[in-house]
Amino acid sequence: MMKSYQNYSLKNHNTFAVDASCPFIYYPSSESELRELCQGLPSPFYVLGEGSNTLFVDDNTPSIIQPQMKGISVRETTTCFFIDVGCAENWHHLVSFCVQRGIGGLENLALIPGSVGAAPVQNIGAYGVELADRLTKVRWFDFANQTMHDFDRDQCQFGYRDSIFKNKLLGKGVITGLTLSLAKNWHPTLGYSGLESLAENSSVAEIYQQVVAIRKAKLPDPKLLPNSGSFFKNPVVNMEQYQHLCAMFGDMPAYPQSTGQIKLAAGWLIEKVGLKGFRLGDVGIHSLQALVLVNYSGTKGQPIADLAYLVQKQVEKKFGVFLEAEVRIISQFGMTELDYRKIRENS
Ligand code: EPU
Repeated sequence: MMKSYQNYSLKNHNTFAVDASCPFIYYPSSESELRELCQGLPSPFYVLGEGSNTLFVDDNTPSIIQPQMKGISVRETTTCFFIDVGCAENWHHLVSFCVQRGIGGLENLALIPGSVGAAPVQNIGAYGVELADRLTKVRWFDFANQTMHDFDRDQCQFGYRDSIFKNKLLGKGVITGLTLSLAKNWHPTLGYSGLESLAENSSVAEIYQQVVAIRKAKLPDPKLLPNSGSFFKNPVVNMEQYQHLCAMFGDMPAYPQSTGQIKLAAGWLIEKVGLKGFRLGDVGIHSLQALVLVNYSGTKGQPIADLAYLVQKQVEKKFGVFLEAEVRIISQFGMTELDYRKIRENS
């Protein structure tokens, strides 16, 4: 029998530490338990990993499905390590597991909060590496025909913090595991600011330690100060808009993309509207990284969304750039959009 609970508090299942309650939480731990769940799929439902990229805005949430497939195993060829890993493993634990065995490739992604199963949904990335660079297969259970499917990298339609699992396949199934391929002919990725001081012959462990040190210095630990990492995606603008902004704000950080568009730094934009370190009641904007919204002492999610609206509004007013939430906003009815312009229209 699949484990489940009724009227369950999610306070310890989201890194904002919001005290929202779900009617049911289900813990399928095998393919047969996923089939069992399909006999009476709750409506609405939301698939939750470790809750490090989710903001519950109402006192109640949809029913929760939290898959429990575990295990890490390593296969090896002459050129590559293949890592098969269950969705419920902790991402940082997986990175540490590889580093301890001298297997390189994931060290730049150390200390990213969350589960392995959530990693492909938003194509996690940091310090010049993203999951898509290292992934060969996603295993996905389809609720409609109750079968497992393997997606190769191309089928996942990865983009910047984006994948098919956030779009076409949203709410249609669950990721149960991944296969990563990590080349034995490993080269360090040291281009990103903070890592370029490391020597070209740095070891996997040295890079890992440096990434951990940078993240610890800049990003608040959700266990001590509840937060969800970057709250917004870095906005991508076209060349014309970039040149217009550049003429006014010459020192604006900008990252040209292969598409010809330019990615801007949302943290910089938020800092420039004067909101870095700003506090509004129980919630605020982190004083060391303006892209991170923090929950000092609140138990509800709506004040965090209200602060996010304020950020969107002020950044759009000054720069004409809309900041899209990276965090998933979940109401009692399911996933919802965070867009201050819609609030204004309705009020
Ligand atoms: N900046 C500011 N003020 C701030 C924050 C940043 O001026 O308050 C400037 C920095 O000086 C730098 C630029 O903005 O010039 C970029 O900052 P940073 O290197 O800290 O990275 P980021 O773009 O803010 C992204 C990811 C992070 C990831 C880092 C490192 C997104 C939305 N965020 O942040 O990912 O760790 O790069 O690779 O892409 C996350 O997704 O939760 C996350 C933490």
